[in-house]
Amino acid sequence: MGDTVVVRLKNSLPEPTTIHWHGLRVPAAMDGTEIVQHPVQPGETFDYRFVVPDAATYWYHPHTNETVQLEKGLYGAFVVRDPGDPAVDGERVLVLDDLKLDRAGRLAPFGGRKERHDGRRGDVWLVNGRIAPNLEMAAGQIERWRFVNASSSRYACLSIGRRTLSIIGTDGGLIGAPVDAQQVLLTPGERVDIAVGPFAQGEVITIDAVPYSRGMIAEEAGTYASVRVGPSRPSVAHIASTLRHIEPLASDHATPTREVHLQGRMSLRRGVDWRIDGQAHHHADPVRVGDLQVWDIVNDTRMDHPFHLHGFFFQVLDVDGEPPPFLSWKDTVNIPAKGRVRIAWTPDDRPGSWMYHCHILEHHAAGMMAHFDVIR
Ligand code: C2O
Ligand code: CU
Repeated sequence: MGDTVVVRLKNSLPEPTTIHWHGLRVPAAMDGTEIVQHPVQPGETFDYRFVVPDAATYWYHPHTNETVQLEKGLYGAFVVRDPGDPAVDGERVLVLDDLKLDRAGRLAPFGGRKERHDGRRGDVWLVNGRIAPNLEMAAGQIERWRFVNASSSRYACLSIGRRTLSIIGTDGGLIGAPVDAQQVLLTPGERVDIAVGPFAQGEVITIDAVPYSRGMIAEEAGTYASVRVGPSRPSVAHIASTLRHIEPLASDHATPTREVHLQGRMSLRRGVDWRIDGQAHHHADPVRVGDLQVWDIVNDTRMDHPFHLHGFFFQVLDVDGEPPPFLSWKDTVNIPAKGRVRIAWTPDDRPGSWMYHCHILEHHAAGMMAHFDVIR
């Protein structure tokens, strides 16, 4: 936390690319989108330079031809630590994805109406690029598992061996106190940190997805990985009952300053066109540094969409009028089919061009996104 990071991107692909630092509060010029930089051409380089102000689990990925470049595996996790992080016996980063292959085991062709509508999904489930890995862990220990959902569109409703799991962090880092849950929904783009264990020697713990319906689309159950519990080792883990203080930005009665409508419209030629506020690739009103934003994200469609705001963390005030189970910092949140989610955030002093969009990559590409400026 607080370090300066310099990353040189050398583009050795046959096509242009960029890197977006998903969740990191970088300067606008480092955000990696086509509105703040020219895509890096084959053979060219670009230096990204920024300070990492907040400890959390992040990831990075291209912001150019994303539907293809991410599906081919161009992404990575990015962890920012704080010396005050809870003491654990081990840490793992688990990046989830799924691949759509053809019968010969090659990437299936991209596009088509169904993919444009549902988002691309495949039957080959990956964890850190491997199919159903067998992991190992010592008995008697507590680990911190940092999950990232890097799928194009698949929602992962995670269960750790159908046991109670303990959520300790979300997109923007630690939450106020550990929260017990049976499962946790991870939409494309989201992260969650979970404390797991202690387990007994000989147990096999599976990392599963349980069925979830994202509106018109059903995500089936499956197993991402299994963890075999070996001989026990002493534990030094200590997860305090208070992890951090998060000050609420606004009450859920706060008056919205903006409504953002997520929409779809059928086109005879292309299938569905995805939009925000009636426009594909919408230009939204600017916001001023320091002005509290209370936004109602309204889903006018019959399927869920993961809403992602670039560069700033927000708090969820309510989902369909109900406060969320716990307060946290987020940059991506599920907007349920026909639902309404109220969020609050305050732009800090990083003026420039930013965007928000659906993190189902095919929806973003088909127009469910908006640009806006942060102005002084
Ligand atoms: Cu991870 Cu513009 O997104
Ligand atoms: Cu969407």
